[in-house]
Amino acid sequence: MKISFAAPRLPRTGTVVCAVMDDRKLSPTAEHLDKASGGAIKRAIAASRFTGRSDETLMVLAPGKLDIERVLLIGVGKSMAIERSARQNRGGIILAQLNAAGEQNAAVAVDLVKGQDAARASADLAYGARLKSYRFDKYRTKEKPEQKPSLKELTFLLSNPKAADRQFAPLDKIAEAVFFTRDLVSEPANVIYPETLAEEARKLAGLGVEVEILDEKQMKKLGMNALLGVAQGSARPPRLVVMQWKGNPGARNKAPIAFLGKGVTFDTGGISIKPAGGMEDMKWDMGGAGVVIGLMKALAGRKAKVNAVGICGCVENMPSGTAQRPGDIVKSMSGQTVEVLNTDAEGRLVLCDALWYCQDRFKPQLMIDLATLTGAIIIALGHEHAGLFSNNEQLAARLLAAGQAVAEKLWRMPLAEAYDKLMDSDAADVKNISGSRDAGSITAAQFLQRFVNGVPWAHLDIAGTTWSKKEAPTVPKGATGFGVRLLDRFVADHYEG
Ligand code: BES
Ligand code: MN
Ligand code: ZN
Repeated sequence: MKISFAAPRLPRTGTVVCAVMDDRKLSPTAEHLDKASGGAIKRAIAASRFTGRSDETLMVLAPGKLDIERVLLIGVGKSMAIERSARQNRGGIILAQLNAAGEQNAAVAVDLVKGQDAARASADLAYGARLKSYRFDKYRTKEKPEQKPSLKELTFLLSNPKAADRQFAPLDKIAEAVFFTRDLVSEPANVIYPETLAEEARKLAGLGVEVEILDEKQMKKLGMNALLGVAQGSARPPRLVVMQWKGNPGARNKAPIAFLGKGVTFDTGGISIKPAGGMEDMKWDMGGAGVVIGLMKALAGRKAKVNAVGICGCVENMPSGTAQRPGDIVKSMSGQTVEVLNTDAEGRLVLCDALWYCQDRFKPQLMIDLATLTGAIIIALGHEHAGLFSNNEQLAARLLAAGQAVAEKLWRMPLAEAYDKLMDSDAADVKNISGSRDAGSITAAQFLQRFVNGVPWAHLDIAGTTWSKKEAPTVPKGATGFGVRLLDRFVADHYEG
């Protein structure tokens, strides 16, 4: 789909999208079209329940004397002063209506706000439409054209199209990165496994990201036996992806900020095997790694003035004759020994070595890990918020605010010594499950905290937000890319320049 911005001249074909305020008050363009059509717009409104409340829509087909095919009315409610994320949602709602109508070509009249505000509004509407336009359909080989989304061109009409273009450019880079994440997460595990996931990350080299890929031998030498223990049951060898974006060489604070992702390309549970029902979902157990790779693409794509490191621990968790057994004890890179009581609590085993490696090598200002870590976070928060755990108040506050701003919401969960104690092992320094289901997401986070060596750190448990079974205004069903926009915003607000 091509998105563009142009001076306000109404087209002769396709659909014109225009606003209606509360109590059926028409925008200037809607008023103009009503007159030109011989009153078709007002008659259609009178014949419907549409009143102009925020995000209500009404499709007016073959509007009277006009040549265009349709007018799509979009309710904007009372106030033009809405949040940017609400405006992006509106863009997504418009896109969905146009595709449902089978339209190929549409123009959106942005005529209720002026100047810079119109540019901002247009860019946000366009961004929302772009985000909603994602579709993972490369394996649907028998689909007929009429089953595919129809819209080819979406144009926003405003008096200062150049300003909208400028505002949209970085947003479009972020959307491109979100799509990259959604693609990685959507791919099945026979296509995306540790080596191929690492190869996808390597593509970022084209944008100026330095990419290193550590193999089994290198990880063995570093002592990453917790990560390697998870990988040992699989025919697919593990990889550790290390990405560096050096966007601010003259930075006063030389220490980078670091992002880490759980990249379990398939999680069978290992010898502590999962039940068959729903196991296919575990292809997206690399969601955290997908976000970190997408985030690096966003930062490099818009040339963010920041020094950021991205690290992904990529493994496949399989049961086999070589698989790790419950009760095995491994020595992690940190030197701490870990008793593996449940091979399905594998994400923390991968991340503990990645976290230790990260702080040891990069001495970062802060570390943020993302992981589809626990089913328990879905029990606690459902699919609306991701769980946030942090040892640092400022970091937690900044993440909460960024999540609020982009509508990828976080909810802070506690860490405390009493939970930490639950992870003490009789046989080793720490065990990988507490032995009870109580506070399952918190005990997982406590495990990770033992490997951050005091560095300001946050852990985002995204098990409930990585994949969606229902449509949302800017997020189609399936892989959401949750976390890319949030962390891009977190960086933009506090760590650039
Ligand atoms: N990848 C799963 C967590 C998960 C579950 C993500 C459902 C998305 C949807 C993780 O590796 C896991 O298996 N966790 C176990 C931990 C338990 C063994 C302590 C869980 O949540 O059941
Ligand atoms: Mn698991
Ligand atoms: Zn897992």
